[in-house]
Amino acid sequence: MLNNFPLWPEQASTMARNVDALYIFLLIVTGMMALLIFICLIYFAARFRYRAGVPAEQIEGSHALEITWSVIPFLIFMVIFAWGAVVYFKERTPPADATEVYVVAKQWMWKLEHAEGQREINELHVPVGRDVRLIMTSQDVIHSFYVPAFRLKQDVLPGRYTVEWFRATKPGVYHLFCAEYCGTQHSGMVGSIVVLEPAQYEAWMNGGSTGPLSATGEKIFAELGCSTCHRSDAQGRGPNLQGVFGKPVQLADGRTVTADENYLRECILDPGARRVKGFQPLMPTFQGLVSEEQVNALVAYIKSISQAQPGEPAKASANGATPKAKPNGSQVQ
Ligand code: CUA
Repeated sequence: MLNNFPLWPEQASTMARNVDALYIFLLIVTGMMALLIFICLIYFAARFRYRAGVPAEQIEGSHALEITWSVIPFLIFMVIFAWGAVVYFKERTPPADATEVYVVAKQWMWKLEHAEGQREINELHVPVGRDVRLIMTSQDVIHSFYVPAFRLKQDVLPGRYTVEWFRATKPGVYHLFCAEYCGTQHSGMVGSIVVLEPAQYEAWMNGGSTGPLSATGEKIFAELGCSTCHRSDAQGRGPNLQGVFGKPVQLADGRTVTADENYLRECILDPGARRVKGFQPLMPTFQGLVSEEQVNALVAYIKSISQAQPGEPAKASANGATPKAKPNGSQVQ
């Protein structure tokens, strides 16, 4: 409906309609309010204007009127609040089975890596109609991942993960902007989201990959010697990481945290911060020794060994589903 209306960007995600509906509601409410105020202003200016010889009439006030002009705006604001909260929670809650893409921002480019292993720079290929979850971090300053056509914007911060998700509804190429001033070439930190039909996407996916991200992570896990302490037989000096992702973890200081992406990330870069109960503070920090991409790969690997079905051997497959990528050559830019 709004596609030909130049003030709105294209609607290309499931979120776009929700955001636009709320926005249009706000425009209508504020527009009507402004109109009402101006009508009253002009009417009262005429009705109560100065007339020679007529003394000003004193009006003592009206409870009914005051209650009316307090209660009606209150109800309108509560509608805006409730509606906004519903849209916000929808935007902030990624579906559990979403495809995952790791995003690393740096001055001044976007580096994207699919869980299946495809890497891209300033370009993200996604299939139409599938939920995509972005796990984002920055290797320098604050950036912001902004796709107007998806009504999607989230700051990307150094030192932690932030997450956002979308489901594209229309094939096409859409602008990706950095929406946080991040240095001299901030305005050049742009890219595109390429939304493909499922068949085209499969073809693109099979075009080349270095193997699933979790397999890269498994290799790094072995190379850095993580596997000597984090053994799967509970005899290691570090916690067994099988099945740990998404589960509550008892900490040495008595707290309990959920082993999410941010927790795993922190354990790699600052192992002492939230140490697991029952283990000595033996683990060295890997800050400066691993790149953001390697941390992502390690996190993807630990997730993959947590997602195996009961009774099935833990395997480093991308997302528990059939891995689509074939390691034949490379498409890395
Ligand atoms: Cu990155 Cu602005």
